[in-house]
Amino acid sequence: MATQGALAIRHAGKIYDPEGVHVVALDDVSVDIGAGEFCVIVGPSGCGKTTLLNAVAGFDQLTDGEIVMDEQLLASPGRKLLPGPDRMVVFQHGALFPWKTVLWNVACGPIAQNRMTPTEANEKARELLGRVGLAGAEKQYSGELSGGQKRRVEIVRALMNDPKILLLDEPFRALDALTKSVVQEYLLELYDYSRKTVFFITHDLEEAIFLADNVVVMTTRPGRVKKIVRVDMPRPRTHEVTTTDRFLQLKSELGAAIHEEALRAFEAGERELA
Ligand SMILES: Nc1ncnc2c1ncn2[C@@H]1O[C@H](COP(=O)(O)OP(=O)(O)OP(=O)(O)O)[C@@H](O)[C@H]1O
Ligand SMILES: [Mg+2]
Repeated sequence: MATQGALAIRHAGKIYDPEGVHVVALDDVSVDIGAGEFCVIVGPSGCGKTTLLNAVAGFDQLTDGEIVMDEQLLASPGRKLLPGPDRMVVFQHGALFPWKTVLWNVACGPIAQNRMTPTEANEKARELLGRVGLAGAEKQYSGELSGGQKRRVEIVRALMNDPKILLLDEPFRALDALTKSVVQEYLLELYDYSRKTVFFITHDLEEAIFLADNVVVMTTRPGRVKKIVRVDMPRPRTHEVTTTDRFLQLKSELGAAIHEEALRAFEAGERELA
């Protein structure tokens, strides 16, 4: 089990443009993620999921509360932003160099930063690519890959830096259902192998349950924690778990909470339009 990457989000708050439009994006959000745990955040559009991820990544500051990783203060109001290779982010639309090979895309970071020799980096890249079914694609140009292959390369590239935590913001949103289910299994394969702490955002409830140790449901804006549900299904998991009674129970429990928030978001939208 991992010993690093424990994350404590304590009373996090974020107000955008406090002197102007004053958007309260996060309000008193507290979440604890143990070292090596897979935490999934779900919630209606605009509830502050990306805002929270940006604060953990060190891209944007909180206006209230704090974020601590392994006793190191990462974020608190007024503090200098602290992004770093200990927190790697994978977005929905990644940025691979399309005219470079898969192997180059994955290995170039640690080589350029003198953290690995080319031999070490290539060896590690090959090992990780093999684990996500891309052993044969190393010499392909990344511009030639399918969406599902690109996502896998981006996740492998992030893991090359040996981060303490992997942050993923709806990485599989644009994929078709079949591709998604395959890529999710590969992500779990990498997770079981590396046991990094994972902070994963999605709108897809089945994806959340399939991947997570804990699912955090957020309320409609301002984002608060509505409910945290422990997913007590054993690992390693394959897609067969999605038809088990336990999976369906969790889906119904979480589905009710999410539906309630979706309705609130809809009603709030209606009021704003009235
Ligand atoms: N730079 C900004 N200035 C003002 N408001 C912002 C800014 N960035 C985000 N917001 C607002 O803060 C709220 C939370 O945004 P955020 O992007 O975190 O939501 P989200 O949960 O990630 O949504 P989605 O599911 O659509 O990605 C939204 O109402 C958004 O409009
Ligand atoms: Mg978002």
